[in-house]
Amino acid sequence: MLLYIHIPFCESKCPYCAFGSVVGKDNLAKSYFDALLKDLKFQIQKFKIRNFKSVFIGGGTPSAVNAKFYEPLFEQILSFCQKDCEITSEANPNSADTNWLTQMRNLGVNRISFGAQSFFEDKLKFLGRTHDAKQIYQAVKNAKISGFKNINIDLIYGTKFDTKKRLSKEVENIKNLEISHVSAYSLTLEPNTPFFHKNEYKKDSPILAKFIMNEIENIGLKQYEISNFGEICKHNLGYWQGKDYAAIGAYAVGFCDDFRFTACANLEKFIADPTQKTYEILSKNDMKFERIFLGARSIVGIEASWLNKHEQERAEILRKSRKLAFKDGKYFVKNFLLADEIALFIVG
Ligand SMILES: C[S@@+](CC[C@H](N)C(=O)[O-])C[C@H]1O[C@@H](n2cnc3c(N)ncnc32)[C@H](O)[C@@H]1O
Ligand code: SF4
Repeated sequence: MLLYIHIPFCESKCPYCAFGSVVGKDNLAKSYFDALLKDLKFQIQKFKIRNFKSVFIGGGTPSAVNAKFYEPLFEQILSFCQKDCEITSEANPNSADTNWLTQMRNLGVNRISFGAQSFFEDKLKFLGRTHDAKQIYQAVKNAKISGFKNINIDLIYGTKFDTKKRLSKEVENIKNLEISHVSAYSLTLEPNTPFFHKNEYKKDSPILAKFIMNEIENIGLKQYEISNFGEICKHNLGYWQGKDYAAIGAYAVGFCDDFRFTACANLEKFIADPTQKTYEILSKNDMKFERIFLGARSIVGIEASWLNKHEQERAEILRKSRKLAFKDGKYFVKNFLLADEIALFIVG
């Protein structure tokens, strides 16, 4: 079982971001963490959880909350964690100081993920970020001082600012940081955000996308999913493999057996009743399609045994035209940028 913990507090709201978070409600942190603990105990009992293979604290901005609030939660979680459990926390470069990082490290967090997005001041401003490039360098330095060896940086590309020259510079900065992982996301214009419909903000260029992917691989971080490079994140891998995951917190979505469950997308309501969830049963076909799409986008691949005769024939066409590789009973997409198209072709 994997565990996801959602921390819905942010210091400011970035105009591209649709993740569930609120600004200026820090006074609710204590009651939110009490509710998280109730939610955790509820799910441990409901899903008869015996251990966690990995834990991911995401947001929102986990570093917007004082590390002391995490203590009671960790007391409970650690007794369920396997020995080699990967415990990741996201953090923003402007709020992750050595104090916070060291306290989180001491609690058991062993992987840290900073939302850097860019090293260019104009692009950072455009993305509404409240930090500069210097603070990214400082945050990574702080993480190393605090004992973190497994460090990720999130980048956003595919914006109107990006050119080959600039993307090359972004990757050069990553190289200088000497970190183990990069997540490079193509900008999505999400509904219900100020960026929605601002098509002029986006540069949808497969050439630039392929370019940044090659540049990242050239600094020694191998691509293992459409947006991920470097030392494989066990938590994300488990998610793409279709493993069950508990998910605690407002806005959090979990998955167990054949149903998906969603928490309340409202902080106050979640605090009032953290165990209230909406359950959705997934059909065998829904689950199969999801596995095919996730498998196509990553090194997880697509098990031939999942496919019916017609789908296998379609996969074989792609293998013969060298768009798919085949090994140990699995099909693997060679160019992840074509993953969605390939998955659609197979199930179509
Ligand atoms: C859940 S966010 C939290 C990260 C952290 N709060 C931060 O901003 O530093 C995780 C990552 O998703 C990516 N992201 C969020 N919205 C996106 C969008 N609309 N398009 C592309 N990437 C996005 C960003 O790279 C971000 O760092
Ligand atoms: S990108 Fe991070 S800091 Fe910005 S609104 Fe989303 S979760 Fe908050």
